[in-house]
Amino acid sequence: MTKLYDQLKEDHRNLVKVLDVLKRQIALYSTREEAGTEKPDIALILDVMDYIQHYPDRFHHPLEEACFDYLDEHKRGDAVARDAIREEHEALEHSASKVRTLLNAINLGEAVPLDRLQQTLDQFHSLQLNHLKREEKTVFKDINALDDAASETILDRVEHRQDPLFADVANQQFNDLIRQLMQQ
Ligand SMILES: [Fe+2]
Ligand SMILES: [Fe+2]
Repeated sequence: MTKLYDQLKEDHRNLVKVLDVLKRQIALYSTREEAGTEKPDIALILDVMDYIQHYPDRFHHPLEEACFDYLDEHKRGDAVARDAIREEHEALEHSASKVRTLLNAINLGEAVPLDRLQQTLDQFHSLQLNHLKREEKTVFKDINALDDAASETILDRVEHRQDPLFADVANQQFNDLIRQLMQQ
């Protein structure tokens, strides 16, 4: 396995764990009015969004797109599947900003129906998870077929970012989220 493919798979494994934390929070909106149940934690949901917008959106997707550019240049693999995934990257960012707008409104004290927030979060969660699955079924095969030289060329083309959650020294901003990840 090349360093490049290993990195992409690792990013997916980590993102699935973060999406599981989000899924649990989304479920808590359904039981929020029952006495004695755990309430959803907006600060934790904001951490999930910060993470996704800071790392997968800013490093993981650009790295995938650098792979697509390389495959395009060498006319290899499934170009149609790549284009569909490129479009999904845009849709994901759009969906993330929709979630962010709602969360900001709540933080500013605006009356946002919580069912609407739950639904928006749920859509975001499904889009993210389906995206990962679709990539693994389609474009990842072509990326996995690249050799070490191609892997190095592609890795050199992107600006590197350290994963702020799963690095050896994680960013303290995410302490609560890290605690949740360890409880899973
Ligand atoms: Fe992607
Ligand atoms: Fe991906």
